[in-house]
Amino acid sequence: MKAAVLYHPGGPENFALEDKPIPTPGAEQVLVKVKAFGLNRSELMTRKGLSPSVRFPRVLGIECVGEVVLDPTGKFKPGQKVAAFMGGMGRDFDGSYAEFAVLPQSILYPFESHLSWKLLGAIPEMFQTVYGSLHLALKTEPGESILIRGGTSSIGMLATQLAKKSGLTVLATTRKPEKIELLKGNGADHVLIDDGNLEGKVKAIYPEGVHKVLELIGTSTLNDSLRCTAPGGTVCMTGMLSEQWSVADFTPMEYIPATVHLTIYDSGQIRVDGQSFQQFIRDVEAGTIKLSINKTFPIIEIAAAHQFMESNSAGGKIVILTGD
Ligand SMILES: NC(=O)c1ccc[n+]([C@@H]2O[C@H](COP(=O)([O-])OP(=O)(O)OC[C@H]3O[C@@H](n4cnc5c(N)ncnc54)[C@H](OP(=O)(O)O)[C@@H]3O)[C@@H](O)[C@H]2O)c1
Repeated sequence: MKAAVLYHPGGPENFALEDKPIPTPGAEQVLVKVKAFGLNRSELMTRKGLSPSVRFPRVLGIECVGEVVLDPTGKFKPGQKVAAFMGGMGRDFDGSYAEFAVLPQSILYPFESHLSWKLLGAIPEMFQTVYGSLHLALKTEPGESILIRGGTSSIGMLATQLAKKSGLTVLATTRKPEKIELLKGNGADHVLIDDGNLEGKVKAIYPEGVHKVLELIGTSTLNDSLRCTAPGGTVCMTGMLSEQWSVADFTPMEYIPATVHLTIYDSGQIRVDGQSFQQFIRDVEAGTIKLSINKTFPIIEIAAAHQFMESNSAGGKIVILTGD
């Protein structure tokens, strides 16, 4: 099989496309024919050597969709469509940047769908993260207002659609005025240009602040996001697009406004149930959710795909196809 192996962290040119033997599943593992997978920012950080727990050489890739080839326990039948994500995939053991992957049964979601592999490849981690952030962490309710900071990211684009579908008013951000129409077309009620200081702009629309904030930029804007939030409201930090993970000299009494809640969502810690996953696929099939796919690449162009992700020209998910 073809696999993109990363021997040392560094630039996209460090991926080595190799022919490797198809792996054999061990106890409670399943051999999956990878059909497609979405690219993730966390893989960019791992590639750069910013995931301290990852040992090299490693086949990256924290998610995929594909078909079961062999499950020695018989739980999954050959040909069954499955999605997989997180659970150490592409970090503790080899992941999806390959034509086949051996994956633990525990991270597989069986599903049915007539969607193309291209569309399906965009779904697993994106859906899990958006659903988990909006419903499990932020506990959004119809009628609320939400600031989606990092609105043009694939997570931000889907979060806007799901929040609108649930009856919220959405304020979405970008740093670039040329992306305003993209965000409006995606359903945002208000588009704000993010220069790192949004409190005044948000409070010009909602003087008390918004009910909820989905923070995708990271700790560089987190304090400002907390100040955009109304008393009793909640900020969920889900993303770190600025690649800044920590807050220096964290002083909670000054950092967090009184009664504002701060939480995080991490799809590695809490998984969404399989029924919600299947229902989301049905919503995409019915056309009530439009997936934003920016570009697809064949697996042999994985280095170019990483370069494209890093250029921030994406306005949606980047999907890699393993087949012709
Ligand atoms: N917690 C979890 O479980 C989980 C799971 C999946 C993803 N995530 C995180 O969610 C975030 C979004 O992921 P994604 O794959 O959707 O991203 P993406 O589609 O690659 O996001 C691209 C957009 O991010 C914005 N951006 C990039 N660098 C930035 C910076 N330094 N400051 C501000 N904005 C910047 C740019 O928007 P503009 O040019 O329009 O400003 C760009 O268009 C990432 O941090 C990712 O790691 C978290």
